[in-house]
Amino acid sequence: MPTAIPTLREGAVTLRPIRLRDAKALERELMANRSWLRTWEATSPYAPMSFDTRASIRSLLTHSRTGSGLPFLVEYNGELAGQLNVSSITWGSLSSASIGYWVGEEFAGRSITPIAVALATDYCFGQLGLHRMEICIRPENAPSLRVVEKLGFRYEGLRRRFIHINGAWRDHFAFALVAEEVRGGVLRRWQDGLVPEGQARVNEFDRAAAAQPLPVADK
Ligand SMILES: CC(C)(COP(=O)(O)OP(=O)(O)OC[C@H]1O[C@@H](n2cnc3c(N)ncnc32)[C@H](O)[C@@H]1OP(=O)(O)O)[C@@H](O)C(=O)NCCC(=O)NCCS
Repeated sequence: MPTAIPTLREGAVTLRPIRLRDAKALERELMANRSWLRTWEATSPYAPMSFDTRASIRSLLTHSRTGSGLPFLVEYNGELAGQLNVSSITWGSLSSASIGYWVGEEFAGRSITPIAVALATDYCFGQLGLHRMEICIRPENAPSLRVVEKLGFRYEGLRRRFIHINGAWRDHFAFALVAEEVRGGVLRRWQDGLVPEGQARVNEFDRAAAAQPLPVADK
């Protein structure tokens, strides 16, 4: 079910469809933020990291045409600030999706990402009829853990060696919301100060487990 990519706005933050002609500006921003992004960047277990920005935009647009992704550029006061991708959209009995994001270092700390995540989630629940949104975060990524804490994404569990990031399989904490938890909208709930306390709190058991590497079998 292909879906058009909308433009979504709140204050100075705009989410708009990514386009092939964004490649140059995006590449400039990605290169300027290499050391800021590298630790958190998805990599391929099969091949070295590619820096072909046009190819990665093309691939994002293909996913959007087949209905499995919504690739956004994030702008702050009209300036390219980062990216937000809704990916792994599944329909039917699951009706679920995942969100990934980054902003350039110079844009950090202005709540751009929580606003962007709230806008995208509200669109997916309200306009697309999706039921569940998931965000997975490395245990070491304190700034990103703050994003889900601000919005009240609910902690769901530890996923061992879940995503290939910065050259290795990394553990992730999984957080989610389902539509009926946020009937008035994720953005509204946060702006009205109605996010329930402790939703994103990781239990001690999972925290301790994530501090130890998963034993890997020799054979
Ligand atoms: C994680 C990230 C997307 C957060 O985006 P953001 O728009 O800065 O989000 P917020 O403004 O809500 O900031 C979240 C927390 O980051 C921390 N932070 C703020 N400014 C920061 C800075 N300059 N450097 C590092 N951390 C900072 C603060 O703890 C902040 O929480 P606070 O608002 O309660 O003080 C951003 O840090 C980033 O792009 N990091 C690199 C890529 C990445 O980690 N992607 C996510 C992978 S799951």
